[in-house]
Amino acid sequence: MSKVLVAYSTHEGQTAKIADFIAGVLRGRGLDVDTCDVKESADPALIDYDGVIVGGSVHVGKHDKHVVDYVRGNRHALTGLPSAFFSVSLSSASGDTQEAEGYVEKFEEETGWLPTRIALFGGGLPYKHLNFVSRHMMKRIVEGKPGNLGTDLSRDYVYTEWDGVRRFAEDFAAELEAAPR
Ligand SMILES: Cc1cc2nc3c(=O)[nH]c(=O)nc-3n(C[C@H](O)[C@H](O)[C@H](O)COP(=O)(O)O)c2cc1C
Repeated sequence: MSKVLVAYSTHEGQTAKIADFIAGVLRGRGLDVDTCDVKESADPALIDYDGVIVGGSVHVGKHDKHVVDYVRGNRHALTGLPSAFFSVSLSSASGDTQEAEGYVEKFEEETGWLPTRIALFGGGLPYKHLNFVSRHMMKRIVEGKPGNLGTDLSRDYVYTEWDGVRRFAEDFAAELEAAPR
């Protein structure tokens, strides 16, 4: 049975939810899957895996430092394995693909990793879980974006399109099934 690692970092939890969802889809395809929050745990040895998916969210224009450090430290192993990257942001949620792609380009420059498979997923707007400053900063950012994202500070919003996440996971599983071992 092929073994897959889904490694991610998250601030408010949406990337963790997406990583868990991907893991569920892959398990449904008969794969043995571990998930790992790279901020919380020691790096699992990539030599134990047949494929790796890495995910990270964008805050203030950049992917989280922990996922950047993780990829930098494992770049060679990632390049030698079937691997993929998913980026979680509000720019993806608002349809601002150019900005979302720009974050990934910056990530590639910072890490030196050029993932062959990349997905851009809409994230969340967890107003209720943000402090006063972040909540108001987010509202201001959202008001300047296309896509009519939510501005009601008394509730949270989730913009992840789960069908797209499922397709990404299924495509990765198919790539792994076809890869020579
Ligand atoms: C303080 C803060 C700053 C953010 N900055 C950006 C940003 O610059 N660009 C963007 O597209 N999304 C931005 N977002 C949206 C996050 O990418 C989105 O909430 C995502 O779901 C966070 O994922 P996580 O919960 O896994 O950390 C920001 C969110 C917060 C709370």
